[in-house]
Amino acid sequence: FSDFLTDTFHRQHDYLRISLTERCNLRCVYCMPEEGVPLSPQRELLTTPEIIMLSSLFVSQGVTKIRLTGGEPTVRKDILPLMRQIGSLRSQGLRELCLTTNGLALHRKLEDMVDAGLTGVNLSLDTLDPWQFQIMTRRKGFDAVMKSIERVLELNTHGAGIKLKINAVVMRGINDTEILKFVEMTREKEIEVRFIEYMPFGGNKWNKGKMFSYSEMLHLIKEKYPQLEKMIGHKNDTSKTYKIPGFAGSLGFITSMTHNFCGTCNRLRITSDGNLKVCLFGNAEVSLRDIIRKSNNGEPIDESAFEVMKEIEMDRRQGLRDGSAQPGLAPNEQELLNVIG
Ligand code: GTP
Ligand code: 5AD
Ligand code: SF4
Repeated sequence: FSDFLTDTFHRQHDYLRISLTERCNLRCVYCMPEEGVPLSPQRELLTTPEIIMLSSLFVSQGVTKIRLTGGEPTVRKDILPLMRQIGSLRSQGLRELCLTTNGLALHRKLEDMVDAGLTGVNLSLDTLDPWQFQIMTRRKGFDAVMKSIERVLELNTHGAGIKLKINAVVMRGINDTEILKFVEMTREKEIEVRFIEYMPFGGNKWNKGKMFSYSEMLHLIKEKYPQLEKMIGHKNDTSKTYKIPGFAGSLGFITSMTHNFCGTCNRLRITSDGNLKVCLFGNAEVSLRDIIRKSNNGEPIDESAFEVMKEIEMDRRQGLRDGSAQPGLAPNEQELLNVIG
């Protein structure tokens, strides 16, 4: 395993998340204001060849899982050719190619994506009620999202083997009344429904009162399903997994607010403008875009980019030394914990 991807806390970063765009076709109330987020100029965003080059480089250094995220990754026009090229890195050691999406456009592109090598879909859906969907996302589109879910399951009956997870952010007084409906969804369907604690993010109007905690969710679910069982998780999971015996699917909880999981985090992140981040909450960033553009006059580069790796590693070590990228307790995470007491 490449030294570059192993930090001084012996965490091996073999999972790379790449944001393809800041744009989104929804406006979820917990994520974005109605007017959307400020967008970077096109020239600052990574081009497709740059994304491919970086993916290939990271895979050659030991990354085995790549997740494409956003904003909403499917709004990027070149998502299919991009996925095809990343998918071809399987011959170099990539084992999983996953997508985090709101599902609005997924049903139209799914077959081609599977053909390109897609192995997993995390789909954001916070409500099973079309009206409530419109309130929470400020847009229409519930039927399209449900269609995407059905398509994935249908392809799986033909052996596609796509791991499907649904991400539901739980907000008190808004969709907490739907928790048990989501649980019921796992009775017949082979889906992992993951409940996410609502976090302060992007200037949303977070307050402690609107957060519905993991322990409250468990309590509520156990009241109806006392047979709920905790599963043994994989070592780098961000979620805690449970199952109701006899149900086809499973349940997960992402407890960012009440139980942090930084110590086992194995993720690297590249933002759509090409910054490498070791931590979601950390401020330490290094511009891979600037490094690769500078080193080859704007043209995507090849093997010489290993030099890039060394620079990043030095930056990371510096971050760990000065505390700006400290696993176990990221700087802003301490602030979050202070907020919730
Ligand atoms: P898999 O484990 O591969 O299924 O993906 P994931 O859960 O990391 O990714 P996804 O894009 O589905 O994100 C789900 C939730 O996890 C989001 O709410 C993220 O904000 C949160 N999340 C992802 N990585 C981290 C992390 O390192 N720290 C914290 N606190 N939250 C994270
Ligand atoms: N709190 C919790 N989860 C959030 N997400 C976006 N904003 C927040 C927030 N403020 C979730 C989305 C998506 C995942 C990538 O992050 O619902 O499923
Ligand atoms: Fe878009 Fe996802 Fe944010 Fe919703 S949570 S606005 S789908 S990026």
